[in-house]
Amino acid sequence: MSDKPVDLLTESEAAAELERLAKEIADHDRRYYSEDAPTVSDADYDALRIRNAEIEARFPELVREDSPSLKVGTTPSGVFGKVVHAVPMLSLDNTFSDEDVRDFVTSVRRFLALPADRELVFTAEPKIDGLSMSLRYENRRLVTAATRGDGTTGENVTANIRTIAEIPETLPADAPDVVEVRGEVYMRRDDFFELNQRMAETGRVFANPRNSAAGSLRQLDPEVTRQRPLRFFAYAWGDASAPLGETQYEVVKRFGDWGFRVNELMARCDTVEAMLAHYHRIEAGRAEIPYDIDGVVYKVDRLDLQERLGFRSRSPRWATAHKFAAEKAMTVLNGIDIQVGRTGAMTPVARLEPVTVGGVVVTNATLHNEDYIRGIGTAREGRDIRVGDTVVIQRAGDVIPQILDVVMEKRPADAVRYEFPHTCPACGSHAVREEGEAVRRCTGGLICPAQAVERLRHFVSRNAFDIEGLGEKQIEFFFQSDDPSLQVRSPAHIFTLKERQRDSLTKLENVDGFGAVSVKKLFAAIDDRRRVEFSRFLFALGIRHVGETNAKRFARHFLSFEAFRKLAEEAVMPEGKGDPGNAAWQELNNINGIGSIVAGAVVEFFGEDHNRQVLDALLAQVTPLDEEPVGTTDSPVAGKTVVFTGALEKMSRDEAKAMAEKLGAKVAGSVSKKTDLVVAGPGAGSKLKQATELGIEVIDEDAWFARVGRQ
Ligand code: IVH
Repeated sequence: MSDKPVDLLTESEAAAELERLAKEIADHDRRYYSEDAPTVSDADYDALRIRNAEIEARFPELVREDSPSLKVGTTPSGVFGKVVHAVPMLSLDNTFSDEDVRDFVTSVRRFLALPADRELVFTAEPKIDGLSMSLRYENRRLVTAATRGDGTTGENVTANIRTIAEIPETLPADAPDVVEVRGEVYMRRDDFFELNQRMAETGRVFANPRNSAAGSLRQLDPEVTRQRPLRFFAYAWGDASAPLGETQYEVVKRFGDWGFRVNELMARCDTVEAMLAHYHRIEAGRAEIPYDIDGVVYKVDRLDLQERLGFRSRSPRWATAHKFAAEKAMTVLNGIDIQVGRTGAMTPVARLEPVTVGGVVVTNATLHNEDYIRGIGTAREGRDIRVGDTVVIQRAGDVIPQILDVVMEKRPADAVRYEFPHTCPACGSHAVREEGEAVRRCTGGLICPAQAVERLRHFVSRNAFDIEGLGEKQIEFFFQSDDPSLQVRSPAHIFTLKERQRDSLTKLENVDGFGAVSVKKLFAAIDDRRRVEFSRFLFALGIRHVGETNAKRFARHFLSFEAFRKLAEEAVMPEGKGDPGNAAWQELNNINGIGSIVAGAVVEFFGEDHNRQVLDALLAQVTPLDEEPVGTTDSPVAGKTVVFTGALEKMSRDEAKAMAEKLGAKVAGSVSKKTDLVVAGPGAGSKLKQATELGIEVIDEDAWFARVGRQ
């Protein structure tokens, strides 16, 4: 740290010192948290942060993206134990306009086959901008508190949660033996400002109440959390050993009786107009609400209907979040960089003069593609975006900010139209844009280092292999390394790293940024992933169009990766119209939710020699686990392949499908020898005929309900 008084620093000295401080503080954090081996006293550490804060206060425009003052708390992941949620914690779909909300209500009615004149009540309540929490009570005592994490597994923060005064330790006698109360931990704005004032002395201030709540909760020492003004709203639930009530409204009221804080702005609405009116009322009063909210959540009130509606892969069909308009700001566009993704897609990224939008410093924004820069197909009506322009940017929640418009009056006289590159900035290969496509892609394929790095990044990302200690930065390092004992250019290399290191003189622990403890942890985390769920494994491969949802669909259908691969390698795509493709191709296409585009991408992937080699090398190191058959295995249709055909009168086609899948059946679109059951309504035609010919059991809608036990 330099001794020069902050007042005397020139701008370039300040910038250089902020860079040094960011690195030094990050190093100390790592030594303290990951390696349990701090090398400075607390006082010296605090002095560094104070100096950083003082320089930033004098030169706010120099605040770096990696500034320690912007970090959300400093506790790294991996410090808290893991909790597998008994019932997954899902997120919500977003809607942005009144029109979207009308569509949402219509789709709920359609799914339930409810006529327009039949009553359908929704609750409407503020969407709290905090972090979601699941509180598990057993025998009416709080036993675990867990963050949402990836929805399936969260972090155990029980000790910290117990310090929040308004979260009850015990529940009254009428609460069931097991219940998970879910809701949002948040901080009021006034408490946040006051806390930041206190914290300013140490240099560790938070960007906004949400980050402040998250940082305060993720403390190693619960006594620190106790000093933080955290609060909790209850609005949902997970596991429960007995029904909690008949409606959303009633259950939340019950939480209130149990001693939880519940939101007084929750209303019951029986028309779309009432829902929208409540939304606009809340939006208009937003500034007076003492905590941050970012929208209104609507939920179907009747729990039996919620049950029938069920879930899509990540969110319930019975709820949606109506978000408030995003915050906007103006700043200058300093440059445009091109990022190359794992499929070669070239995305332009705006480098901006740093600007604060809704309490967060923004330095980058997405520009989507070349047409977007030119203003084609946007609300800018052909106004293009040029380097040097003053632009309007928008940031909504956690999504990457975007450039909305250009302030033409401020355009510098020498600003020139942006020429989108026709070659890849990473490998120099030709970049092409196919007819009808918005993106330009690098054609470098396997020789393009940018694509290779992105593929590896995807491979280790959170919903793929998710290897603790192997993030984007580390992947970049291993990829760039020239040392054979450190290099990672293909997924299998990750799993041979430990072995290669054993006989090498260049030790990873001596590399800057690693240490003996973190290397040990990294190797353990890698070994931990030598057995991995089928769907994660498949998602990690990064096949086009095979995201998490489709990976799960394949896993549920085939149960073993081997069976999936065998079929994918056998499948032959149709040559043209009229050609149905071979039997394997048809089976791929017959999986519920999978169409010819996804199936085609899979077949193409397995048709490439190189892909098969990479895969074989990986399979020599890693075993994809067989998927457990889903659904209620004791249901009368579990494991059966069902086809619905003709008109259904008591439920929509979508509900029929969702219901069958929940009971462990597979739903297919066409009848084949593999079909076990056909549910046929009035007007059924060729599928019914085929079923009869093949001797497959055919029942009607009532018989289906009787079989699965619903009236
Ligand atoms: S209901 C199954 N209600 O929003 C869905 N969520 O974007 C359960 N959130 O992860 C969530 N206020 O953290 C619900 N009143 C509210 C909420 C709310 C904030 C958060 C929650 C969730 C996220 C989804």
